[in-house]
Amino acid sequence: MVREMKFETDRLCIESWDTALGSEQEKQAFAAELAAILTPPVLKSLPEPMQLADGEAAISDWIAARHAESHVLTIRDGNASLIGLLILAPSGDAEYPPTVHIGYLFSEIVWGKGFASELIGGLVAWYQDLGEGTQLLAGVAHGNVASANALQKNGFKQVPDHSDPDTAMFRKDTQFNFDRLYSSTAHALGAPSSEIVEFFSTLAGDGLRVLDIGCGQGRDALFIARLGHSVVGVDIAPSGIKDLVSAGNRENLNVDGIVADITNFQPVGQFDVLLIDRTLHLLSADNRVAVLRRLIGHVAPQGWVIISDEPENMAAFKEVFDTEEALWKPHMETDEHLMLQHGAG
Ligand SMILES: C[S@@+](CC[C@H](N)C(=O)[O-])C[C@H]1O[C@@H](n2cnc3c(N)ncnc32)[C@H](O)[C@@H]1O
Repeated sequence: MVREMKFETDRLCIESWDTALGSEQEKQAFAAELAAILTPPVLKSLPEPMQLADGEAAISDWIAARHAESHVLTIRDGNASLIGLLILAPSGDAEYPPTVHIGYLFSEIVWGKGFASELIGGLVAWYQDLGEGTQLLAGVAHGNVASANALQKNGFKQVPDHSDPDTAMFRKDTQFNFDRLYSSTAHALGAPSSEIVEFFSTLAGDGLRVLDIGCGQGRDALFIARLGHSVVGVDIAPSGIKDLVSAGNRENLNVDGIVADITNFQPVGQFDVLLIDRTLHLLSADNRVAVLRRLIGHVAPQGWVIISDEPENMAAFKEVFDTEEALWKPHMETDEHLMLQHGAG
């Protein structure tokens, strides 16, 4: 982990167990603390590879095994007593979105006090603040209602596709902090995709009105405005809108920027093109469809809707247009792109 992981909640202090595993003496003291909480009822809730072996070296072997496969953090109470462990297994560095499998155990003497929920709440808050759009995954044995509740209380949802007969898998996606990214990096998202370039380069008509939803710093909006169209860009990240508007002013382009949350943003008037490039996937499934339904009401007759998004979201978007089949003519469709023209007018 690049950033040191340490956080506190009302009753808990969580930090890497490395701080307790310095000298030989510290290791021995920690092994004794750990042995006191790895009691049979606690071990019973852990998977087979995490069971304690027999013999004198059992605890130090257990520590070494966890060290080799995961990041482990101690959970201490207000008296600095060890009451549990938080175990994190991140996916490989190159994977996007970054994924972390989480597991935890608590000493049986603190069960039933709501610590699990408090721990998960603190963990989610830490990842939200990190702002890397991390996907948190937690497997819970079927029947472990307390753990399932602790996760659900903190916004985790069960993922049936990744669950199996023994384990229910829960997932929580934390948000990527685009505002921070745009504040520190110019042109953070690079050039427009070839599909967007192709569409707008061959689009007939001058001075069209384009609404770019989730425009970021304007990689699409500026390209489109340079073709002579007028663009309204909307984004929740103020630093993105600031960059868009400054670039538009510098080049004397017809660009307007609005800082707004698209889940409640109401556009004014009609647009010839509604562009939503890789933004809807950042909303909840219900919001994605609701936002799309609201916005397509602002597409002028003969106007266009251009959507780029995750392949798994496309079916729900197509359904929105299918319910108004007579109105929308498909223009282009790939796994990640959907382009339609408003048939009326
Ligand atoms: C992956 S970026 C894509 C940016 C731009 N469309 C592009 O392709 O370069 C997603 C953008 O959606 C914005 N966004 C996410 N949730 C939003 C919301 N609820 N309201 C407005 N913008 C949002 C983010 O700030 C970010 O700039």
